[in-house]
Amino acid sequence: HPDLSIDAKEGLVFGQTPLQAIATKYGSPTWVINADILTARYKKLDQAFKDEQLDVSIHYAMKANGHLAILDLLAKEGAGADIVSGGELLRALKAGISPSKICFSGVGKTEEELTLAIETQIAQINVESREELHLLSKLAQKIGKNAAVCLRINPDVDAKTHHKITTGLAENKFGIAYKEAISVYKEAHELSNITPLGFDVHIGSQISSTDPYRQAFVKMVELIKEARAQGLEVSTLDCGGGFGISYHDEQEASPAAIAALMKEVLAPLNLKLGIEPGRWLIGPSGILISKVVMHKDNGADTAPFVIIDAAMNDLVRPAMYDAWHGILPINAEIYQRPYKALNIDGPVCESSDIFARDRSLPNLQPGDFIAILDAGAYGSVMSSTYNARPMAAQIMVSGKQAEIIQARQSVEDLWQDEIIPTFSSKNT
Ligand code: LLP
Repeated sequence: HPDLSIDAKEGLVFGQTPLQAIATKYGSPTWVINADILTARYKKLDQAFKDEQLDVSIHYAMKANGHLAILDLLAKEGAGADIVSGGELLRALKAGISPSKICFSGVGKTEEELTLAIETQIAQINVESREELHLLSKLAQKIGKNAAVCLRINPDVDAKTHHKITTGLAENKFGIAYKEAISVYKEAHELSNITPLGFDVHIGSQISSTDPYRQAFVKMVELIKEARAQGLEVSTLDCGGGFGISYHDEQEASPAAIAALMKEVLAPLNLKLGIEPGRWLIGPSGILISKVVMHKDNGADTAPFVIIDAAMNDLVRPAMYDAWHGILPINAEIYQRPYKALNIDGPVCESSDIFARDRSLPNLQPGDFIAILDAGAYGSVMSSTYNARPMAAQIMVSGKQAEIIQARQSVEDLWQDEIIPTFSSKNT
C-alpha cells in the first residue's frame, strides 16, 4: 500500500500520520480521513489529463463520501460534484461547490429534486429515460428556466466487476437503451426548455481494467458520430466513474491509462469531457480504526475468531459485496508476535458480519488496535445504527495534525427522535 508504512517505534503510519496516538486519544471505532492523501490523489488525477492536453471536468461522485470536510477540500482543488439526490445537491451547495460544476445522475429523480436542480441551474442533468426527459421539460416550462441535459446511455457493456455494482448491462435499470439513444436525443431537441448537451455513460464501479471503458467509449463515439450526421449538435460526453483501486491484488485503474485511452478514443471528436470518480479519490484516503474485544478459539477446525468493536453497521462492504479489505495492526509491539491465520469478525448477531477469513496476522489479543484499510469510500456513508450501535467518530488528519470532523454519536442520540404514540399510554 503506497500510503502505509510500519515504523519500529511509531507502529502503523498512514501517509505522514502515526495512528497509535490517534487510536488512544479518540478510541474506536473511528474513521480517519487523510487530507494529504486525498489532495495528492486529486492532483494526480487532474495532472494525468493535463499531461494528455485533455480538458476534463472532474465531478467527484460524492455518494462515496459526502462529508462536508471532504467536499470542502476537493472544492478548493477545483473539483465539481456528481450528485444523486436533492440531499446531495444541498450538501454540495453547502460545501461551496458552484452549481456550474454540479451534474445530477440517478434513475428516480423526483419532481421536487428536478425542480431544485432546474431552479439552481446546475451544469448538467443526466437524464436516464424518455419519461424523465418529458417530465423535466414540463417542470422547466413551469419554472420558466432551461435545463441542461446529457442523456445517460446504457451501452450494454460488461464492466467485469461485482454483479451488485455493475450498471452498464441491458439488464440493469440504468440509462437509456443504446438503440433508443438517437430518437430520444432528437426529442430532447424538440422539447421546450431543454438544452441538450450530449451524452453520459457510467458502466459500473471498481472496474480494474481499461477494456470495458474502451468498449463503452467506442460505442459512444459511434453514437455521437451518428447524432452529428443527423444534424444534432453534441458538445459534451460525461464518461462516468468507476475507476477501481487495489484493495487486495486487483489492478488499480491508473489515471494515466484512463487519460491515454480518452485521448486516443475521444479526443478526435472535440468534446467537452467529464468524469465522475468517487472511490478512486477517497477510498485509499480513509481507514477505520477498531479494537480487538475478544480472541476466541472454536477448536482445531477453524482459525481463532478475533472479534473487534467495528461491525457491519460501520463498514458493510464485506457483508454486502464479499469485499476484501486489508487489515494491519496499529501498535508497533504487535508486529513482534508470531503470525497466525485469524478470522476477523464484528460483534453483530449475523454470520455475514465478517471482516476477514484465515488472514495471516500477528496473533491479535484484546485491547489491540487495528486499521481496516481503503475504507474511505462507501464506508461511513453506508453506516447504520443496527444493534443500537451509535455512529463511529470521524477524524481528519494532515501531517501530525488531527481534528474531529464528526463526533461519536451517543446512545441517547439513537432514540432522540423516537416517539411513543399517545394511544399506547391509554393501554393500561
Ligand atoms: N457515477 C455514477 C452515475 C454512479 O452511479 C457511481 C457509483 C459513480 C459515478 C462513482 O463510482 P466510483 O467512481 O465510486 O466507482 N457501494 C458500492 C459502490 C456503489 C457505486 C454506485 N455508483 C461499493 O461499496 O463498492
